[in-house]
Amino acid sequence: MAPRYGDYQLEIYLNGLTGVVPSHPMTFAELEQRAARTLPSWVWSYVAGGAGDEHTQEANAAAFRRWGLYPRMFVGAAERDTSVDLCGVRLPSPLMMAPVGVVGLCAQDGHGDLATAEAAARTGVPMIASTLSQDPMEEVASRFGDTPGFFQLYTPTDRELAASLVSRAEAAGFRGIVVTLDTWITGWRPRDLATANFPQLRGHCLANYTSDPVFRERVGADASPEEVVAHWTGIFGNPLTWDDLPWLRSLTDLPLFVKGICHPDDARRAADGGVDGVYVSNHGGRQANGGIPALECLPDVVAATDLPVVFDSGVRSGSDAVKALALGATAVAVGRPYVYGLALGGADGAVHVLRSMLAEADLLMAVDGYPSLSDLTPRALRELRG
Ligand code: FNR
Repeated sequence: MAPRYGDYQLEIYLNGLTGVVPSHPMTFAELEQRAARTLPSWVWSYVAGGAGDEHTQEANAAAFRRWGLYPRMFVGAAERDTSVDLCGVRLPSPLMMAPVGVVGLCAQDGHGDLATAEAAARTGVPMIASTLSQDPMEEVASRFGDTPGFFQLYTPTDRELAASLVSRAEAAGFRGIVVTLDTWITGWRPRDLATANFPQLRGHCLANYTSDPVFRERVGADASPEEVVAHWTGIFGNPLTWDDLPWLRSLTDLPLFVKGICHPDDARRAADGGVDGVYVSNHGGRQANGGIPALECLPDVVAATDLPVVFDSGVRSGSDAVKALALGATAVAVGRPYVYGLALGGADGAVHVLRSMLAEADLLMAVDGYPSLSDLTPRALRELRG
């Protein structure tokens, strides 16, 4: 039977009968406010901040408000089917957790990657585990339970290291590789610049490197933390070109996604290059303050390719996720909201945020008469006037 995500509200209301109210926020606005008070200021700045004056990151979220979902009546959507096939990986819902490099630092015990993996196991919402983590990918993957996991690769300039990271991900049981293309160099981030704050340069979130045999061979067994960071700085970012795509493709037989695609021509060329899925994202507006909300790029990318399309950037609620699905996304990844949940309550906090988003999406599909994801098409939406 399909999961009844909307029943989360019943659970909350029933708990209320014995005086128990949710300990975590029910809105993104409150989640954000409380995370800002809870996280150390340098972590908050890194997580919440974006590129330039943060116009693009605000526009990402605002773009959802320009669309409305038609309510359709006499549909009787008593059961909703939210399951989806993503390149042969069956998921109970199209929601995923976007890769977030410092998620390890956001949980109060400093093991946010493991807590995120636990949240994935408890909700069925897959984690896309970042290359930049506090715990090695093998330990993260060991907490996934029955939920499939995906590994996000920041491609180093050292090709042997890249191959090693991918083969470790395969051996650890990850079900797909997401190569992020938009972050071979860090975008201009005034919030972090104002406090000269870049966590990785302080040695954070490098566990996948320090646990890697190729990286260790390169730096030497007795490398000091400073030497590790210096070597990492030298190999982290690879300004890939289309000529590198055949090599990337050759690294794995797992489904390969390319993240950061916003232009339809790039989607077409990536498809021609043999990727299995395209991931529309502008990195939550953290990388380039270019001004185009990611949601506005989605329909053209969907039209340009038959491949599955994952979407993120600006998703703040279940209704946002439904709108992205109606605009053609196969799966929708949530970024900052689950990270804020994690900051407030570890795995429990992230689980609450994910269950809330799933419940809201499920209830929206029920109320508005869309019983399955295939009913969510652009015809379900109308651009608002004025
Ligand atoms: C990210 N993102 C990211 N993406 C990626 O491919 N690898 C990574 O390590 C990170 N790290 C990271 C850190 C932080 C603090 C944030 C907020 C984001 C980008 C992420 O996957 C996703 O694209 C954005 O989070 C989507 O934007 P919103 O919805 O969070 O605003």
